[in-house]
Amino acid sequence: MEAVVARIRLVLVLCVAAAAAAALMASPGAAAGEGAAAAATAQELRRGFSVTHDQSYSQFQPVLADPTGAFALGFLRVKATMLDLAVLHLPSAFPLWRAIPDRPAPWSAPASLSFDGGLVLTDRAASKVLWSAAAASPGDRAVLLNTSNLQIQSTSAGVVWQSFDHPSDTIVQGQNLTTAAALYTLDRRFAMRLGSNYFALYIEPPSPGGVAAAAMYLKHTALQAKAQIVAGGGPTYARVEPDGFLAMYQKEGPPADVLSFDTFNRGVRALRRMTLEPDGNLRAYYWDGARWAADYTSITEACELPTTCGAYSVCAQPRGGCECLLGNATDGSGCAAAAAPGSLCGTPGGEVGGLYRAVRRRGVEPANKELLGFERAASAADCEARCERKCSCWGAVYSNGTGYCYLLDYPAQLLVEGDERKLGYFKVRSLEEEAAGRGGGGGAGGVKAALLAVGVAAVVGAAAFGAYRAWDRRRRAAADARRQLGAVDDGLSPGP
Ligand SMILES: *[C@@H]1O[C@H](CO)[C@@H](O)[C@H](O)[C@H]1NC(C)=O
Ligand SMILES: *[C@@H]1O[C@H](CO)[C@@H](O)[C@H](O)[C@H]1NC(C)=O
Ligand SMILES: *[C@@H]1O[C@H](CO)[C@@H](O)[C@H](O)[C@H]1NC(C)=O
Ligand SMILES: *[C@@H]1O[C@H](CO)[C@@H](O)[C@H](O)[C@H]1NC(C)=O
Repeated sequence: MEAVVARIRLVLVLCVAAAAAAALMASPGAAAGEGAAAAATAQELRRGFSVTHDQSYSQFQPVLADPTGAFALGFLRVKATMLDLAVLHLPSAFPLWRAIPDRPAPWSAPASLSFDGGLVLTDRAASKVLWSAAAASPGDRAVLLNTSNLQIQSTSAGVVWQSFDHPSDTIVQGQNLTTAAALYTLDRRFAMRLGSNYFALYIEPPSPGGVAAAAMYLKHTALQAKAQIVAGGGPTYARVEPDGFLAMYQKEGPPADVLSFDTFNRGVRALRRMTLEPDGNLRAYYWDGARWAADYTSITEACELPTTCGAYSVCAQPRGGCECLLGNATDGSGCAAAAAPGSLCGTPGGEVGGLYRAVRRRGVEPANKELLGFERAASAADCEARCERKCSCWGAVYSNGTGYCYLLDYPAQLLVEGDERKLGYFKVRSLEEEAAGRGGGGGAGGVKAALLAVGVAAVVGAAAFGAYRAWDRRRRAAADARRQLGAVDDGLSPGP
Protein backbone atom coordinates (compact mmCIF):
# COMPACT_ATOMS: atom_id res chain seq x y z
CA MET A 1 0.00 0.00 0.00
CA GLU A 2 2.75 2.42 1.00
CA ALA A 3 4.62 1.47 -2.09
CA VAL A 4 1.61 2.04 -4.27
CA VAL A 5 1.04 5.46 -2.77
CA ALA A 6 4.69 6.32 -3.20
CA ARG A 7 4.52 5.22 -6.82
CA ILE A 8 1.40 7.27 -7.44
CA ARG A 9 3.11 10.26 -5.89
CA LEU A 10 6.17 9.79 -8.05
CA VAL A 11 4.10 9.52 -11.21
CA LEU A 12 2.10 12.56 -10.21
CA VAL A 13 5.14 14.60 -9.33
CA LEU A 14 6.71 13.76 -12.68
CA CYS A 15 3.53 14.62 -14.52
CA VAL A 16 3.04 17.88 -12.71
CA ALA A 17 6.67 18.81 -13.20
CA ALA A 18 6.45 18.08 -16.90
CA ALA A 19 3.32 20.14 -17.18
CA ALA A 20 4.79 23.03 -15.28
CA ALA A 21 7.85 23.03 -17.50
CA ALA A 22 5.78 22.98 -20.63
CA ALA A 23 3.26 25.46 -19.23
CA LEU A 24 0.73 23.77 -21.36
CA MET A 25 -2.41 25.45 -22.47
CA ALA A 26 -4.80 23.18 -24.28
CA SER A 27 -6.10 24.79 -27.40
CA PRO A 28 -8.93 23.54 -29.58
CA GLY A 29 -8.07 20.30 -31.22
CA ALA A 30 -4.48 20.33 -30.05
CA ALA A 31 -4.90 17.63 -27.46
CA ALA A 32 -7.06 15.24 -29.37
CA GLY A 33 -4.52 13.49 -31.50
CA GLU A 34 -1.50 13.88 -29.29
CA GLY A 35 0.08 11.62 -26.75
CA ALA A 36 -1.57 11.68 -23.38
CA ALA A 37 1.56 12.95 -21.66
CA ALA A 38 1.56 16.08 -23.73
CA ALA A 39 -2.15 16.56 -23.21
CA ALA A 40 -1.85 16.07 -19.48
CA THR A 41 -2.19 18.78 -16.90
CA ALA A 42 -3.36 21.70 -18.89
CA GLN A 43 -4.32 24.63 -16.69
CA GLU A 44 -7.38 25.41 -18.69
CA LEU A 45 -9.60 23.44 -21.06
CA ARG A 46 -11.12 25.28 -23.99
CA ARG A 47 -13.90 24.25 -26.30
CA GLY A 48 -12.91 21.43 -28.60
CA PHE A 49 -10.65 19.85 -25.99
CA SER A 50 -10.62 16.08 -25.85
CA VAL A 51 -8.30 13.61 -24.17
CA THR A 52 -8.32 9.84 -24.30
CA HIS A 53 -7.73 7.62 -21.31
CA ASP A 54 -4.27 6.11 -21.57
CA GLN A 55 -4.00 2.77 -19.78
CA SER A 56 -0.22 3.06 -19.47
CA TYR A 57 -0.73 5.32 -16.46
CA SER A 58 -0.79 2.93 -13.55
CA GLN A 59 -3.05 4.87 -11.17
CA PHE A 60 -3.86 8.38 -12.27
CA GLN A 61 -3.69 10.26 -15.52
CA PRO A 62 -3.85 14.00 -14.84
CA VAL A 63 -5.69 16.15 -17.35
CA LEU A 64 -6.18 19.51 -15.71
CA ALA A 65 -4.06 21.04 -12.94
CA ASP A 66 -4.76 23.86 -10.52
CA PRO A 67 -2.36 26.84 -10.40
CA THR A 68 -0.59 25.63 -7.25
CA GLY A 69 0.00 22.07 -8.48
CA ALA A 70 -1.69 20.64 -5.39
CA PHE A 71 -4.72 19.26 -7.22
CA ALA A 72 -5.46 17.68 -10.56
CA LEU A 73 -8.47 16.43 -12.45
CA GLY A 74 -7.88 13.20 -14.27
CA PHE A 75 -8.61 9.54 -14.89
CA LEU A 76 -8.33 7.58 -11.65
CA ARG A 77 -7.99 3.86 -11.24
CA VAL A 78 -10.28 2.57 -8.49
CA LYS A 79 -10.63 -0.90 -6.99
CA ALA A 80 -7.81 -2.10 -9.26
CA THR A 81 -9.99 -2.63 -12.32
CA MET A 82 -12.29 0.36 -12.50
CA LEU A 83 -12.07 3.86 -13.88
CA ASP A 84 -13.48 7.13 -12.59
CA LEU A 85 -12.93 10.78 -13.21
CA ALA A 86 -11.59 12.45 -10.07
CA VAL A 87 -10.06 15.55 -8.55
CA LEU A 88 -7.06 14.35 -6.58
CA HIS A 89 -5.14 15.99 -3.79
CA LEU A 90 -1.79 15.13 -5.34
CA PRO A 91 0.47 14.97 -2.25
CA SER A 92 -1.81 12.35 -0.68
CA ALA A 93 -3.38 10.90 -3.84
CA PHE A 94 -6.71 11.30 -2.05
CA PRO A 95 -9.72 11.84 -4.32
CA LEU A 96 -11.58 14.90 -3.06
CA TRP A 97 -14.22 14.59 -5.76
CA ARG A 98 -15.39 11.70 -7.91
CA ALA A 99 -17.66 11.84 -10.94
CA ILE A 100 -19.23 8.36 -10.90
CA PRO A 101 -18.19 6.67 -7.64
CA ASP A 102 -21.15 4.28 -7.53
CA ARG A 103 -20.88 3.16 -11.15
CA PRO A 104 -17.26 3.40 -12.28
CA ALA A 105 -16.37 2.24 -15.78
CA PRO A 106 -14.03 -0.67 -16.52
CA TRP A 107 -10.38 0.43 -16.50
CA SER A 108 -10.07 -0.96 -20.00
CA ALA A 109 -12.94 1.14 -21.36
CA PRO A 110 -11.78 3.42 -24.16
CA ALA A 111 -12.92 6.48 -22.28
CA SER A 112 -12.38 10.06 -23.26
CA LEU A 113 -13.00 13.37 -21.58
CA SER A 114 -13.99 16.26 -23.73
CA PHE A 115 -15.01 19.86 -23.24
CA ASP A 116 -17.41 21.52 -25.59
CA GLY A 117 -19.23 23.97 -23.37
CA GLY A 118 -19.80 21.19 -20.85
CA LEU A 119 -17.55 18.36 -19.66
CA VAL A 120 -18.39 14.90 -20.96
CA LEU A 121 -16.88 11.52 -20.10
CA THR A 122 -17.60 9.07 -22.88
CA ASP A 123 -17.05 5.38 -23.45
CA ARG A 124 -16.24 5.53 -27.16
CA ALA A 125 -16.62 1.81 -27.74
CA ALA A 126 -20.15 1.80 -26.44
CA SER A 127 -20.82 5.34 -27.65
CA LYS A 128 -22.10 5.88 -24.18
CA VAL A 129 -22.00 8.99 -22.04
CA LEU A 130 -20.65 7.84 -18.68
CA TRP A 131 -20.95 11.22 -17.02
CA SER A 132 -21.52 14.79 -17.99
CA ALA A 133 -21.46 18.13 -16.23
CA ALA A 134 -24.49 19.70 -17.75
CA ALA A 135 -24.14 23.41 -17.26
CA ALA A 136 -27.16 25.68 -17.30
CA SER A 137 -25.58 27.50 -20.20
CA PRO A 138 -22.51 26.50 -22.21
CA GLY A 139 -19.14 27.52 -20.79
CA ASP A 140 -16.05 28.81 -22.55
CA ARG A 141 -13.47 27.11 -20.35
CA ALA A 142 -13.00 24.57 -17.58
CA VAL A 143 -10.53 25.33 -14.81
CA LEU A 144 -9.45 23.79 -11.54
CA LEU A 145 -9.22 26.38 -8.77
CA ASN A 146 -6.63 26.33 -5.99
CA THR A 147 -9.42 25.16 -3.65
CA SER A 148 -9.84 21.94 -5.71
CA ASN A 149 -13.10 23.28 -7.14
CA LEU A 150 -13.57 22.28 -10.78
CA GLN A 151 -15.41 25.04 -12.56
CA ILE A 152 -16.94 25.59 -15.97
CA GLN A 153 -16.88 29.30 -16.64
CA SER A 154 -18.51 31.40 -19.27
CA THR A 155 -17.29 34.86 -20.24
CA SER A 156 -20.82 36.21 -20.21
CA ALA A 157 -22.47 34.17 -17.43
CA GLY A 158 -19.63 33.55 -14.98
CA VAL A 159 -19.52 30.16 -13.26
CA VAL A 160 -22.08 27.87 -14.92
CA TRP A 161 -21.12 24.62 -13.14
CA GLN A 162 -18.81 23.67 -10.28
CA SER A 163 -17.84 20.38 -8.70
CA PHE A 164 -18.33 21.98 -5.26
CA ASP A 165 -22.08 21.80 -5.91
CA HIS A 166 -21.86 18.06 -6.63
CA PRO A 167 -19.81 16.50 -3.83
CA SER A 168 -19.28 12.76 -3.59
CA ASP A 169 -18.16 11.64 -0.11
CA THR A 170 -16.09 14.69 0.83
CA ILE A 171 -16.32 18.43 1.31
CA VAL A 172 -13.17 20.50 1.57
CA GLN A 173 -12.58 23.72 3.41
CA GLY A 174 -14.58 26.52 1.84
CA GLN A 175 -17.03 24.23 0.06
CA ASN A 176 -20.72 24.84 0.80
CA LEU A 177 -22.80 21.75 1.45
CA THR A 178 -26.33 22.86 0.67
CA THR A 179 -29.74 21.25 1.06
CA ALA A 180 -29.66 20.65 -2.70
CA ALA A 181 -26.72 18.25 -2.32
CA ALA A 182 -25.72 15.40 -0.02
CA LEU A 183 -22.62 13.46 0.88
CA TYR A 184 -22.77 9.75 0.11
CA THR A 185 -20.37 7.00 0.96
CA LEU A 186 -18.89 5.76 -2.28
CA ASP A 187 -21.16 2.71 -2.22
CA ARG A 188 -24.14 4.95 -1.44
CA ARG A 189 -25.10 2.96 1.66
CA PHE A 190 -24.93 6.02 3.90
CA ALA A 191 -25.73 9.67 3.37
CA MET A 192 -25.29 13.00 5.11
CA ARG A 193 -28.01 15.55 4.41
CA LEU A 194 -28.88 18.97 5.67
CA GLY A 195 -32.31 19.81 6.99
CA SER A 196 -33.76 23.19 7.76
CA ASN A 197 -31.69 23.59 10.92
CA TYR A 198 -29.71 20.39 11.29
CA PHE A 199 -27.57 17.86 9.51
CA ALA A 200 -28.14 14.14 9.82
CA LEU A 201 -26.62 10.82 8.83
CA TYR A 202 -28.81 8.16 7.26
CA ILE A 203 -28.69 4.52 6.30
CA GLU A 204 -30.01 4.63 2.79
CA PRO A 205 -32.79 2.25 1.76
CA PRO A 206 -31.51 -0.78 -0.16
CA SER A 207 -33.38 0.33 -3.25
CA PRO A 208 -34.15 3.99 -3.83
CA GLY A 209 -37.86 4.51 -4.21
CA GLY A 210 -38.56 1.17 -2.57
CA VAL A 211 -40.86 0.61 0.36
CA ALA A 212 -38.22 1.15 3.03
CA ALA A 213 -37.29 4.60 4.27
CA ALA A 214 -33.86 5.95 5.19
CA ALA A 215 -32.95 5.32 8.82
CA MET A 216 -31.51 8.35 10.59
CA TYR A 217 -28.65 7.42 12.92
CA LEU A 218 -27.25 10.79 13.89
CA LYS A 219 -28.74 14.24 14.04
CA HIS A 220 -26.91 17.43 14.86
CA THR A 221 -29.20 20.38 15.38
CA ALA A 222 -27.97 23.93 14.97
CA LEU A 223 -27.32 25.62 18.27
CA GLN A 224 -28.16 29.04 16.95
CA ALA A 225 -25.46 30.54 19.14
CA LYS A 226 -24.72 33.61 17.13
CA ALA A 227 -27.40 33.76 14.47
CA GLN A 228 -30.97 32.56 14.55
CA ILE A 229 -32.20 30.28 11.83
CA VAL A 230 -35.30 31.98 10.54
CA ALA A 231 -38.17 29.86 9.29
CA GLY A 232 -38.71 30.71 5.65
CA GLY A 233 -35.42 32.58 5.61
CA GLY A 234 -33.89 30.39 2.95
CA PRO A 235 -32.10 27.07 3.02
CA THR A 236 -29.21 26.35 5.34
CA TYR A 237 -25.75 25.31 4.26
CA ALA A 238 -22.69 23.96 6.03
CA ARG A 239 -19.02 24.64 5.47
CA VAL A 240 -15.71 23.51 6.91
CA GLU A 241 -13.88 26.62 8.06
CA PRO A 242 -10.11 27.25 8.23
CA ASP A 243 -10.20 27.67 12.02
CA GLY A 244 -11.20 24.04 12.46
CA PHE A 245 -14.95 23.71 12.65
CA LEU A 246 -18.02 22.86 10.63
CA ALA A 247 -20.32 25.85 10.51
CA MET A 248 -24.00 25.94 9.62
CA TYR A 249 -25.32 29.09 8.02
CA GLN A 250 -28.52 30.47 6.65
CA LYS A 251 -26.67 33.46 5.22
CA GLU A 252 -23.09 34.72 5.31
CA GLY A 253 -22.04 36.28 8.60
CA PRO A 254 -21.96 34.67 12.01
CA PRO A 255 -22.76 30.97 11.81
CA ALA A 256 -25.94 29.55 13.35
CA ASP A 257 -23.92 26.59 14.56
CA VAL A 258 -20.32 25.69 15.21
CA LEU A 259 -19.23 22.08 15.44
CA SER A 260 -15.66 22.31 16.61
CA PHE A 261 -12.85 19.95 15.68
CA ASP A 262 -9.87 19.04 17.88
CA THR A 263 -7.74 21.83 16.39
CA PHE A 264 -10.48 24.42 16.78
CA ASN A 265 -8.95 27.89 17.08
CA ARG A 266 -5.43 26.49 17.49
CA GLY A 267 -4.12 28.40 14.53
CA VAL A 268 -3.63 25.30 12.38
CA ARG A 269 -3.64 26.57 8.81
CA ALA A 270 -3.87 23.56 6.56
CA LEU A 271 -6.17 22.04 3.99
CA ARG A 272 -9.16 20.54 5.77
CA ARG A 273 -11.69 18.03 4.60
CA MET A 274 -14.72 16.23 5.99
CA THR A 275 -15.57 12.80 4.63
CA LEU A 276 -18.44 10.38 5.07
CA GLU A 277 -16.39 7.20 5.29
CA PRO A 278 -17.30 3.66 4.20
CA ASP A 279 -18.10 2.61 7.79
CA GLY A 280 -20.78 5.30 7.97
CA ASN A 281 -18.77 7.59 10.23
CA LEU A 282 -18.30 11.26 9.48
CA ARG A 283 -14.73 12.40 10.07
CA ALA A 284 -12.69 15.55 9.58
CA TYR A 285 -8.97 15.78 8.80
CA TYR A 286 -6.32 18.34 8.02
CA TRP A 287 -3.29 17.83 5.81
CA ASP A 288 -0.19 18.24 7.96
CA GLY A 289 2.19 18.00 5.05
CA ALA A 290 2.74 14.26 5.35
CA ARG A 291 -0.61 12.74 6.22
CA TRP A 292 -4.25 13.47 6.86
CA ALA A 293 -4.38 14.08 10.62
CA ALA A 294 -7.69 13.09 12.22
CA ASP A 295 -9.44 16.08 13.73
CA TYR A 296 -13.03 15.03 14.38
CA THR A 297 -15.04 11.80 14.54
CA SER A 298 -18.79 12.04 14.81
CA ILE A 299 -19.42 8.56 16.26
CA THR A 300 -16.97 7.17 18.79
CA GLU A 301 -18.80 4.21 20.31
CA ALA A 302 -19.02 0.87 18.54
CA CYS A 303 -22.75 0.34 18.99
CA GLU A 304 -23.50 3.75 17.53
CA LEU A 305 -21.87 2.90 14.23
CA PRO A 306 -24.26 1.43 11.68
CA THR A 307 -21.63 -0.95 10.35
CA THR A 308 -20.80 -2.57 13.68
CA CYS A 309 -23.69 -5.02 13.45
CA GLY A 310 -25.70 -6.06 10.45
CA ALA A 311 -29.38 -5.67 9.82
CA TYR A 312 -31.73 -7.74 11.98
CA SER A 313 -29.25 -7.75 14.84
CA VAL A 314 -29.02 -6.33 18.33
CA CYS A 315 -25.91 -4.55 19.55
CA ALA A 316 -24.68 -5.16 23.08
CA GLN A 317 -22.94 -2.42 25.01
CA PRO A 318 -20.18 -1.56 25.50
CA ARG A 319 -18.11 -3.87 23.35
CA GLY A 320 -20.38 -3.76 20.36
CA GLY A 321 -21.09 -7.48 20.27
CA CYS A 322 -23.83 -8.39 17.85
CA GLU A 323 -26.59 -10.88 18.30
CA CYS A 324 -29.05 -11.84 15.60
CA LEU A 325 -32.73 -11.22 16.16
CA LEU A 326 -33.19 -14.78 14.96
CA GLY A 327 -30.75 -16.15 17.48
CA ASN A 328 -27.17 -16.55 16.28
CA ALA A 329 -24.10 -14.38 16.67
CA THR A 330 -22.80 -12.55 13.67
CA ASP A 331 -19.50 -11.19 12.47
CA GLY A 332 -21.01 -7.90 11.42
CA SER A 333 -22.01 -9.05 7.97
CA GLY A 334 -25.62 -9.10 9.05
CA CYS A 335 -28.07 -11.74 10.10
CA ALA A 336 -30.61 -11.72 7.35
CA ALA A 337 -30.65 -9.84 4.14
CA ALA A 338 -33.43 -7.38 3.67
CA ALA A 339 -35.03 -8.12 0.36
CA ALA A 340 -35.19 -4.69 -1.08
CA PRO A 341 -37.83 -4.23 -3.72
CA GLY A 342 -41.45 -5.06 -3.59
CA SER A 343 -43.77 -4.48 -0.76
CA LEU A 344 -44.47 -6.10 2.55
CA CYS A 345 -47.96 -6.53 1.19
CA GLY A 346 -48.85 -9.31 -1.25
CA THR A 347 -50.23 -6.86 -3.73
CA PRO A 348 -49.75 -3.11 -3.80
CA GLY A 349 -52.20 -1.74 -1.29
CA GLY A 350 -53.50 -5.23 -0.72
CA GLU A 351 -53.41 -7.77 2.05
CA VAL A 352 -50.55 -7.79 4.47
CA GLY A 353 -48.85 -10.99 5.32
CA GLY A 354 -47.24 -14.03 3.85
CA LEU A 355 -44.19 -12.25 2.52
CA TYR A 356 -42.40 -11.95 5.80
CA ARG A 357 -41.99 -13.66 9.11
CA ALA A 358 -42.89 -11.88 12.33
CA VAL A 359 -40.20 -12.05 15.01
CA ARG A 360 -40.82 -10.93 18.59
CA ARG A 361 -38.08 -10.10 21.00
CA ARG A 362 -38.13 -8.76 24.54
CA GLY A 363 -35.47 -6.37 25.82
CA VAL A 364 -34.58 -4.48 22.65
CA GLU A 365 -35.06 -0.87 21.69
CA PRO A 366 -34.11 1.43 18.82
CA ALA A 367 -30.77 3.09 19.46
CA ASN A 368 -32.08 6.05 17.52
CA LYS A 369 -35.39 6.28 19.37
CA GLU A 370 -34.76 9.95 20.14
CA LEU A 371 -34.85 10.48 16.39
CA LEU A 372 -38.04 8.49 15.84
CA GLY A 373 -41.55 9.66 16.43
CA PHE A 374 -43.77 7.63 18.72
CA GLU A 375 -47.45 7.00 19.23
CA ARG A 376 -49.12 6.10 22.48
CA ALA A 377 -50.53 2.61 22.62
CA ALA A 378 -52.56 0.85 25.30
CA SER A 379 -50.68 -2.41 25.01
CA ALA A 380 -47.97 -4.25 23.14
CA ALA A 381 -50.65 -5.99 21.08
CA ASP A 382 -52.13 -2.63 20.13
CA CYS A 383 -48.71 -1.31 19.10
CA GLU A 384 -47.99 -4.43 17.08
CA ALA A 385 -51.34 -4.28 15.32
CA ARG A 386 -50.62 -0.76 14.13
CA CYS A 387 -47.49 -2.02 12.45
CA GLU A 388 -48.96 -5.22 11.14
CA ARG A 389 -51.67 -3.41 9.23
CA LYS A 390 -49.23 -1.03 7.55
CA CYS A 391 -47.43 -2.09 4.38
CA SER A 392 -44.66 0.44 5.04
CA CYS A 393 -44.04 -0.65 8.63
CA TRP A 394 -41.10 -2.96 9.26
CA GLY A 395 -41.27 -3.14 13.01
CA ALA A 396 -42.64 -1.79 16.26
CA VAL A 397 -41.13 -1.44 19.69
CA TYR A 398 -43.47 -0.99 22.63
CA SER A 399 -42.32 0.33 25.95
CA ASN A 400 -44.51 -1.16 28.65
CA GLY A 401 -43.20 1.47 31.03
CA THR A 402 -44.20 4.59 29.13
CA GLY A 403 -46.81 3.28 26.71
CA TYR A 404 -44.78 4.61 23.79
CA CYS A 405 -45.03 2.75 20.49
CA TYR A 406 -42.15 3.31 18.07
CA LEU A 407 -42.83 2.32 14.48
CA LEU A 408 -39.91 1.59 12.14
CA ASP A 409 -40.33 2.31 8.45
CA TYR A 410 -37.10 0.50 7.55
CA PRO A 411 -35.94 -3.11 8.06
CA ALA A 412 -34.89 -3.81 11.64
CA GLN A 413 -31.55 -2.23 12.45
CA LEU A 414 -30.01 0.20 14.91
CA LEU A 415 -31.32 -1.98 17.74
CA VAL A 416 -29.66 -2.16 21.14
CA GLU A 417 -30.33 -4.12 24.27
CA GLY A 418 -32.97 -2.49 26.43
CA ASP A 419 -34.72 -3.38 29.64
CA GLU A 420 -37.26 -6.18 29.86
CA ARG A 421 -40.21 -3.84 29.52
CA LYS A 422 -39.33 -3.12 25.89
CA LEU A 423 -41.11 -5.42 23.48
CA GLY A 424 -40.04 -5.63 19.88
CA TYR A 425 -41.98 -6.91 16.89
CA PHE A 426 -40.17 -7.15 13.55
CA LYS A 427 -41.05 -8.18 10.04
CA VAL A 428 -38.22 -10.25 8.62
CA ARG A 429 -37.71 -10.95 4.97
CA SER A 430 -34.54 -12.92 4.63
CA LEU A 431 -32.59 -15.03 2.22
CA GLU A 432 -33.24 -17.91 4.58
CA GLU A 433 -36.97 -17.32 4.28
CA GLU A 434 -36.59 -17.21 0.56
CA ALA A 435 -34.60 -20.42 0.51
CA ALA A 436 -37.12 -22.09 2.78
CA GLY A 437 -39.92 -20.99 0.50
CA ARG A 438 -38.12 -22.35 -2.52
CA GLY A 439 -37.29 -25.57 -0.67
CA GLY A 440 -41.00 -26.05 0.01
CA GLY A 441 -41.40 -26.03 -3.76
CA GLY A 442 -44.36 -25.58 -6.06
CA GLY A 443 -47.61 -23.73 -5.76
CA ALA A 444 -47.89 -20.84 -3.40
CA GLY A 445 -44.40 -21.54 -2.05
CA GLY A 446 -42.91 -21.13 -5.50
CA VAL A 447 -44.79 -17.92 -6.11
CA LYS A 448 -43.65 -16.62 -2.77
CA ALA A 449 -40.05 -17.55 -3.45
CA ALA A 450 -40.20 -15.90 -6.85
CA LEU A 451 -41.59 -12.75 -5.35
CA LEU A 452 -38.90 -12.75 -2.70
CA ALA A 453 -36.20 -13.46 -5.20
CA VAL A 454 -36.92 -10.33 -7.21
CA GLY A 455 -34.01 -7.97 -7.11
CA VAL A 456 -30.88 -7.73 -5.13
CA ALA A 457 -30.75 -8.32 -1.46
CA ALA A 458 -28.78 -5.83 0.48
CA VAL A 459 -27.47 -6.17 3.93
CA VAL A 460 -27.83 -2.90 5.61
CA GLY A 461 -26.03 -2.90 8.83
CA ALA A 462 -26.88 -0.92 11.78
CA ALA A 463 -26.90 -0.51 15.42
CA ALA A 464 -26.28 2.41 17.59
CA PHE A 465 -26.62 2.95 21.24
CA GLY A 466 -26.97 6.10 23.21
CA ALA A 467 -27.46 8.36 20.23
CA TYR A 468 -28.92 10.84 22.61
CA ARG A 469 -25.93 10.67 24.92
CA ALA A 470 -23.62 11.24 22.00
CA TRP A 471 -25.75 14.10 20.85
CA ASP A 472 -25.67 15.59 24.30
CA ARG A 473 -21.91 15.17 24.46
CA ARG A 474 -21.55 16.97 21.16
CA ARG A 475 -24.02 19.59 22.26
CA ARG A 476 -21.89 20.33 25.28
CA ALA A 477 -18.71 20.34 23.22
CA ALA A 478 -20.31 22.75 20.80
CA ALA A 479 -21.46 24.91 23.68
CA ASP A 480 -17.85 25.13 24.78
CA ALA A 481 -16.91 26.13 21.28
CA ARG A 482 -19.59 28.74 21.34
CA ARG A 483 -18.19 30.21 24.54
CA GLN A 484 -14.74 30.23 23.03
CA LEU A 485 -16.13 32.07 20.05
CA GLY A 486 -17.17 34.78 22.42
CA ALA A 487 -20.86 34.13 22.67
CA VAL A 488 -21.72 34.37 26.32
CA ASP A 489 -24.50 32.22 27.64
CA ASP A 490 -27.18 34.70 26.87
CA GLY A 491 -30.12 32.40 27.07
CA LEU A 492 -30.17 31.44 23.42
CA SER A 493 -32.03 28.23 22.82
CA PRO A 494 -29.81 25.22 22.28
CA GLY A 495 -32.40 23.85 19.86
CA PRO A 496 -34.52 20.79 20.30
C1 LIG B 1 -6.05 30.93 -4.39
O1 LIG B 1 -6.53 31.85 -5.34
C2 LIG B 1 -7.03 33.06 -4.78
C3 LIG B 1 -7.56 33.93 -5.90
O2 LIG B 1 -7.89 33.21 -7.02
C4 LIG B 1 -5.94 33.76 -4.02
O3 LIG B 1 -6.46 34.92 -3.41
C5 LIG B 1 -5.38 32.83 -2.96
O4 LIG B 1 -4.29 33.44 -2.32
C6 LIG B 1 -4.93 31.54 -3.59
N1 LIG B 1 -4.52 30.62 -2.54
C7 LIG B 1 -3.43 29.87 -2.64
C8 LIG B 1 -3.17 28.95 -1.49
O5 LIG B 1 -2.69 29.91 -3.59
C1 LIG C 1 -20.89 29.61 -0.48
O1 LIG C 1 -22.12 30.25 -0.24
C2 LIG C 1 -22.00 31.67 -0.08
C3 LIG C 1 -23.38 32.21 0.27
O2 LIG C 1 -24.32 31.80 -0.66
C4 LIG C 1 -21.46 32.28 -1.35
O3 LIG C 1 -21.28 33.67 -1.18
C5 LIG C 1 -20.13 31.63 -1.69
O4 LIG C 1 -19.67 32.11 -2.92
C6 LIG C 1 -20.28 30.13 -1.77
N1 LIG C 1 -18.96 29.54 -1.99
C7 LIG C 1 -18.72 28.68 -2.97
C8 LIG C 1 -17.33 28.19 -3.06
O5 LIG C 1 -19.58 28.29 -3.76
C1 LIG D 1 -27.17 -21.00 14.61
O1 LIG D 1 -25.91 -21.65 14.62
C2 LIG D 1 -26.01 -23.04 14.69
C3 LIG D 1 -24.60 -23.60 14.85
O2 LIG D 1 -23.67 -22.86 14.13
C4 LIG D 1 -26.72 -23.58 13.45
O3 LIG D 1 -26.82 -24.98 13.51
C5 LIG D 1 -28.10 -22.94 13.37
O4 LIG D 1 -28.74 -23.33 12.18
C6 LIG D 1 -28.00 -21.43 13.42
N1 LIG D 1 -29.34 -20.86 13.49
C7 LIG D 1 -29.71 -19.82 12.78
C8 LIG D 1 -31.10 -19.33 13.01
O5 LIG D 1 -28.98 -19.25 11.97
C1 LIG E 1 -46.82 -4.56 31.22
O1 LIG E 1 -46.91 -3.95 32.45
C2 LIG E 1 -48.04 -4.41 33.20
C3 LIG E 1 -48.13 -3.59 34.47
O2 LIG E 1 -46.88 -3.40 35.04
C4 LIG E 1 -47.90 -5.90 33.50
O3 LIG E 1 -49.02 -6.36 34.21
C5 LIG E 1 -47.80 -6.64 32.18
O4 LIG E 1 -47.57 -8.01 32.41
C6 LIG E 1 -46.70 -6.06 31.34
N1 LIG E 1 -46.75 -6.70 30.04
C7 LIG E 1 -45.70 -7.26 29.47
C8 LIG E 1 -45.95 -7.88 28.16
O5 LIG E 1 -44.60 -7.24 29.99
